Amino acid sequence: MDNILIALSTFAEFDAKPLELLKASGIPYTIHSTGKRITKEELLQAGKNATVIVAGVEPYDAEVLSALTNLRCISRCGVGVDAIDLETASEKGITVLNTPDVPTIAVAELAISLYFSLSRNLRVQANSMGNKKWERLESHLVSGRTIGIIGFGRIGRKIAEFLKPFNVKILVADPFLAKESVGNLGATLVDKETLLRESDIVSVHAAKSNTPVIGADDYSRMKKGALLVNLSRGGMIDEDGLLKAIRSKHLAGAGLDVFAKEPYNGPLCDLENVILTPHNATSTVETRVAMEVECVENAIRFTKGLVTADEKVV
Ligand SMILES: NC(=O)c1ccc[n+]([C@@H]2O[C@H](COP(=O)([O-])OP(=O)(O)OC[C@H]3O[C@@H](n4cnc5c(N)ncnc54)[C@H](O)[C@@H]3O)[C@@H](O)[C@H]2O)c1
Repeated sequence: MDNILIALSTFAEFDAKPLELLKASGIPYTIHSTGKRITKEELLQAGKNATVIVAGVEPYDAEVLSALTNLRCISRCGVGVDAIDLETASEKGITVLNTPDVPTIAVAELAISLYFSLSRNLRVQANSMGNKKWERLESHLVSGRTIGIIGFGRIGRKIAEFLKPFNVKILVADPFLAKESVGNLGATLVDKETLLRESDIVSVHAAKSNTPVIGADDYSRMKKGALLVNLSRGGMIDEDGLLKAIRSKHLAGAGLDVFAKEPYNGPLCDLENVILTPHNATSTVETRVAMEVECVENAIRFTKGLVTADEKVV
């Protein structure tokens, strides 16, 4: 008999639909949502009868996976599965599911809002007005400019789609793609060097890797006055190099949502032509509700044997 544990710190806070789906499924469930991330002890206790866990970012290491002997599926609310020991899950025959498509629009919208805000020097001018100072700074259009997207997966493509009415030129660097696969969005596949040299805005959306996609030496390869946006993962750009490039005025500004060490409170916070957000690109109410609905649907479909092989992370 299946049993679902909801281990998310909050659940159905903004919309009752995920809870209604759970109730309508007829599957016994427990909700452990205290507003705080579930601890290991709480997880082991609350999850001991669970066959399916609807999971947040709490760790599922080898010890947890071994202790939860009834567990057959982890249905993650979100994309990242870094907190799950996938090798052990695979060994134990535990299916891992996630919601990779839901956050795409939210991240793409934040990226584009950063292009416009940075181009119009919005932060500096709005702060000046807040201090009753009438200060008019140089600003630029986004329309007509060249946007370089590094990593042309779900998010990179959505950005290109959203930017269509703005008459921008889109360059893409993605070593895993063929030329034909980017053309229908009006983008041109180039190598990274060309992208850095020709783009007014460089926007990083590559899959996580151990080496930065923008290394310390890459800043000098970018156009003078260009902008950098990173919404992928911390560590994908060299933060010290970025600091130097902005202080020296080689770059005009940057927008970052992710940092090598989080929470971030380093020197980039002091630069007024930089806009930083606390790794919350996906944190819109609409996205949260859609993610909860999808991960509950995934959990229910798993219990009915309806999950296909290509949906499984493991
Ligand atoms: N800020 C946030 O809250 C947030 C939310 C969701 C996703 N993300 C991150 O955004 C990034 C993109 O997400 P997605 O859903 O579009 O992923 P995706 O897997 O759909 O696309 C990633 C793309 O990156 C490409 N790539 C891999 N290595 C590359 C490299 N060295 N240079 C250029 N391209 C490379 C891949 O070929 C792929 O096309 C990921 O790093 C993801 O972790 C961040």
